[in-house]
Amino acid sequence: MSSLQHVNPRVMGIRVWPQSRLHSVATHITQTITLGAQKPFKQVNDVSSGDPHKAGMKPISFVRQVLAVCLYPQLLKDNNLPLDVRLRAQRLLEVCDGGSVGSYTASSGIPHVRQSIADFITRRDAGVPSFAKDIFISAGSQGALMVIVKLLANGEGETPAGVLTPTPCPHTLPTLLDDSGVMVVPYQLMEDRGWAVDLDELHRALRTARGRCEPRAIYISNPGNPTGHVQDSKSIKEVIQFAAAERLLLLVDEVYQDIVYGPGKEFISFKKVLFEMGTKYWETVELISFNSLSTGCMGECGLRAGYMELVNVDPGVMHFVDTLLCTSISTPVTGQLALDLMVDPPKLGDASYDSYTQEILLKRTILSQNARRAQEFLNDLPGLSCQPAMGGIYLYPSLHLPSEIIEQAKMLGVEADVLYCQRLLEEEGVFVGAGCQFGETKGKHHLRLCILAPTDTTEEVLARLGSFHRRLSDSLPSSP
Ligand SMILES: Cc1ncc(COP(=O)(O)O)c(C=O)c1O
Repeated sequence: MSSLQHVNPRVMGIRVWPQSRLHSVATHITQTITLGAQKPFKQVNDVSSGDPHKAGMKPISFVRQVLAVCLYPQLLKDNNLPLDVRLRAQRLLEVCDGGSVGSYTASSGIPHVRQSIADFITRRDAGVPSFAKDIFISAGSQGALMVIVKLLANGEGETPAGVLTPTPCPHTLPTLLDDSGVMVVPYQLMEDRGWAVDLDELHRALRTARGRCEPRAIYISNPGNPTGHVQDSKSIKEVIQFAAAERLLLLVDEVYQDIVYGPGKEFISFKKVLFEMGTKYWETVELISFNSLSTGCMGECGLRAGYMELVNVDPGVMHFVDTLLCTSISTPVTGQLALDLMVDPPKLGDASYDSYTQEILLKRTILSQNARRAQEFLNDLPGLSCQPAMGGIYLYPSLHLPSEIIEQAKMLGVEADVLYCQRLLEEEGVFVGAGCQFGETKGKHHLRLCILAPTDTTEEVLARLGSFHRRLSDSLPSSP
């Protein structure tokens, strides 16, 4: 039997991901509009996934200015550009081989950038030490995660490796695990507690997985995609104790660490909590944390750069990580330089400090306003209920659909939330993600709504979603 048969998504109860189906519909609609078709909307608004610049978010000027100079070094002499931009570009060119962004770099990243990242982590975690040798840069954090998952998949054991995976989780994760032959072990997040992680549920998930697979790791998304949940130190501590007791590797996706807006909430890294738990944990628990240039205030996903920090990972395994990263030769240099700018932005007194700070503040303000506004709006619609997001870029409202829609969906052989999203797309040009992939209680449906777009676009999306939803509810006798 092939190893992929072990992880057949249907056997595990994983829903075949509907994003691609909806994507095809969205592409088709866009094509027909381009060819002159008349629709009640001018274009498709994609709020299903988090591509910040596609959604209308502006790049940070300092980042683009420094990159422009690095790409075209004659601009070093251009006095129209702020002095700190030119000095920074000069410094970054010095750390590129041949003084050019056109050169290859070491497969785990430019040493200077790895050091900048380690310094940033040490500052962020109030002095908890971080070392450049433990930082691995890759073409996006997903690439880094993929490297680790491949290593997990190659371990010994009669059954395939398993990763405890939250429900709901980032929509690309099940495919990533599945592609490497790793089994998804779902654990349910607690919606009525703002999508918190529940310790009993972790134990339950682990018990049911044993015998079917070799659970080797637990994946956490904090701040949560798509839930917007932000874990406090107590919850993080519980998860670390659980991972330690069960000898699980902690895979912590912390890519939304710079977007926390919930009142009284703050981002606390797993690494900081691990350090505070004392040597018993600090020197033994294996932890890998991921961060990215794609998300948060930078949103530069097209530049393709991210990194992971490995804590307490065996040096032999670190060597394999390096070897696997070698297969992609080197991460795009412009992305690596932008990572350096992300972790080491202009300082007070630098010419770009004020504009940089204002641009970042504006992004955070828009996100937090959008999150609050969208949550209130969704909660006012019949049959929709939405937990408030505390951070990140998504809302994940629960959708109570009338029985007629559920029946219709059954007849068409699709999930009811996919049908809902498809009709919303066709009638209003709004592309919202359809719910969750696996493990959900039957009959529960959700929508995934990205809140990155500028305020006016978000308002338009909400208005269209609202009119579709009301129209649908009014047209059915058994509306909720
Ligand atoms: C949970 C999560 N991890 C990682 C990423 C980014 O991946 P990458 O760095 O490969 O672009 C995203 C979003 O874009 C995300 O939502």
